[in-house]
Amino acid sequence: MSDSITIGFVPLSAAAKSVLVLFTDESLKFGSASAKILGGTAETVKRAASAARFKGKAGAALDILAPAGLKAERLIVIGTGKAGALKAEDYIKLGGQISGRLKNAPAVTVVAELAGGAFKPADVAAVASGIRLRAYTFDRYKTKKKDDDDTPKLAVSIAVSDVSAAKKAFAPVDQVTDGVIVARDLVNEPPNVLYPEEFAKRAAQLRKLGVQVEIFDKKAMTKLGMGALLGVAQGSVREGRMVVMRWNGGKKGDKPVGFVGKGVCFDTGGISIKPAGGMEEMKGDMAGAACVVGLMHALAARKAKVNAIGAIGLVENMPDGNAQRPGDIVKTMSGQTIEIINTDAEGRLVLADVLYYVAKTYKPQFMVDLATLTGAILVALGTEHAGLFSNNDELSERLRLAGLATGETVWRMPLGAAYDKLIDSKFADMKNTGPRYGGSITAAQLLQRFVNETPWAHIDIAGTGMGAPSSDINTSFGTGYGVRLLDRLVADYYEAKK
Ligand code: BES
Ligand code: MN
Ligand code: ZN
Repeated sequence: MSDSITIGFVPLSAAAKSVLVLFTDESLKFGSASAKILGGTAETVKRAASAARFKGKAGAALDILAPAGLKAERLIVIGTGKAGALKAEDYIKLGGQISGRLKNAPAVTVVAELAGGAFKPADVAAVASGIRLRAYTFDRYKTKKKDDDDTPKLAVSIAVSDVSAAKKAFAPVDQVTDGVIVARDLVNEPPNVLYPEEFAKRAAQLRKLGVQVEIFDKKAMTKLGMGALLGVAQGSVREGRMVVMRWNGGKKGDKPVGFVGKGVCFDTGGISIKPAGGMEEMKGDMAGAACVVGLMHALAARKAKVNAIGAIGLVENMPDGNAQRPGDIVKTMSGQTIEIINTDAEGRLVLADVLYYVAKTYKPQFMVDLATLTGAILVALGTEHAGLFSNNDELSERLRLAGLATGETVWRMPLGAAYDKLIDSKFADMKNTGPRYGGSITAAQLLQRFVNETPWAHIDIAGTGMGAPSSDINTSFGTGYGVRLLDRLVADYYEAKK
């Protein structure tokens, strides 16, 4: 499943295993260790490159039977583009391109250098992470092995100039990679297995890493007055849950950072039911919550020097005799009332109560929520950027930069009074949908009514958290989007430096 791969680091001089992976840029020159391994076969490799029209372009690879004289059986040369053009954020993709080619390869040596020199430890770590992320598959429910599945364990040795520096750099990156895989697993699980109570149990596993986990059931949430979350939950035979996770890696008394996730374990739309086509994908409507759990895993596993709160609202949005109706008015924990126009706009109802709870209880430095909130964000941004909405320019800019650094990019969208008034209601303080146009923005406006003065950002991951097309580092339904982004945000701006 997720861990059919082991990664180790060896010195650059180590002997090549059955598959040898080298890098070259458009100069088609090799680094000195690679050249030494190739020895007299370099000329043959050159001929193979020219025959295959391989020019070292980024994304291209030469994948051949190893020439006689090499210890390896197979040689893969990965192109990296123009000499000197590789940026820090590109290395994870190189790793992905490697493991994308390694099906059925038992033992692999990757020589981490270019003609310009050996990779830096941080870049080596990124390559290793990319190898793991691309190798991830979710096959827990497949009972038949495929015929060509004869190598259950893939062992990758990365040859580096400084083994101990590479190990040291990879340790935290490996733990964040684990967090991404935790998130992907949750998103990929089927909804009959992963309903709110079971999701809460999985989040509770974080206790093993020293995270404090508090689970709120229906009774506890009723006591808190969470009428909006409970209104969504009431249509399902599976009770809703709120889970609050706390990682105290910072100084005692330091204000925590807060992360909130939409955890709709299945979204049928409720009484405003969705069309049948593609509805199975709505098992992924808990990708925001999955990301928050994956992030808390990452922060705790790498012992981040920060106090962090993760809170997730878990419900199932079902049509039922007891389901809420369009026209219903619910009372949120904040005291504000919401008229339900469309029961399919349920995520904002769940988040309204959880955001308010976190702001009020923990007074965090900031809150970031993640939610597969609107189809409209897919119309606006496709699957390349997540939509970013915020009441705070500094937090927005930090998220933008963390996005560029990790490749989990965000694009800022507007908020404002002219949009806000579109959700005023005739009968209640607000309604849960606005006009058809600007649907992602009016959804964000509703959330903003529950955060008061807390610096806050909302990330709409409907296009990036689930069902995105395959990439260099992911081929599964659940992407784990947001774990690396928010881990980076914390590491770069909110962690006490060692
Ligand atoms: N979970 C959906 C949004 C969604 C759509 C996520 C596609 C992932 C892929 C959300 O609850 C929803 O149904 N939103 C409605 C809102 C509308 C009723 C105002 C939508 O986007 O159509
Ligand atoms: Mn919905
Ligand atoms: Zn939804």
